[in-house]
Amino acid sequence: ERHPLTITVNGREHTLELEAWVTLLDLLRERLGLTGTKKGCDQGQCGACTVLVDGRRINSCLTLAVMQVGRSVTTIEGLADGDKLHPLQQAFVEHDAFQCGYCTPGQICSAVGLINEGQAKCSAEVRELMSGNVCRCGAYPQILRAVSQVAG
Ligand code: FES
Repeated sequence: ERHPLTITVNGREHTLELEAWVTLLDLLRERLGLTGTKKGCDQGQCGACTVLVDGRRINSCLTLAVMQVGRSVTTIEGLADGDKLHPLQQAFVEHDAFQCGYCTPGQICSAVGLINEGQAKCSAEVRELMSGNVCRCGAYPQILRAVSQVAG
């Protein structure tokens, strides 16, 4: 059974019909074509699917799309301001904070949420608070430098 719902993603309202069991991740990737958000484990363990809901980071594979009605979802596609990269995107470029890039959208969304939370006061805290975002290439030192530059 499908339910009508209206959801706001990157400032744009979408009205669609959706089964209640569709995750936010599958809604973004498969229904809205926003494939910047990645599916890694689909079980809440890798952070590749991290997006922002009302400014707070969330694993989109672990939440249902129907729960986001009335909330504002932001994905990696929504962070830049026209041609101008978000400061964290710019920092990732400057610090070479990716290799294969698969975890990068999640890393960046997570870092934006982290900064919104105002908790990252030093790089040890950034490392701890970003521990839900796995990088299989091991680009952690560069990621940490990029995030710390913007957070600090
Ligand atoms: Fe959601 Fe891995 S795909 S945490």
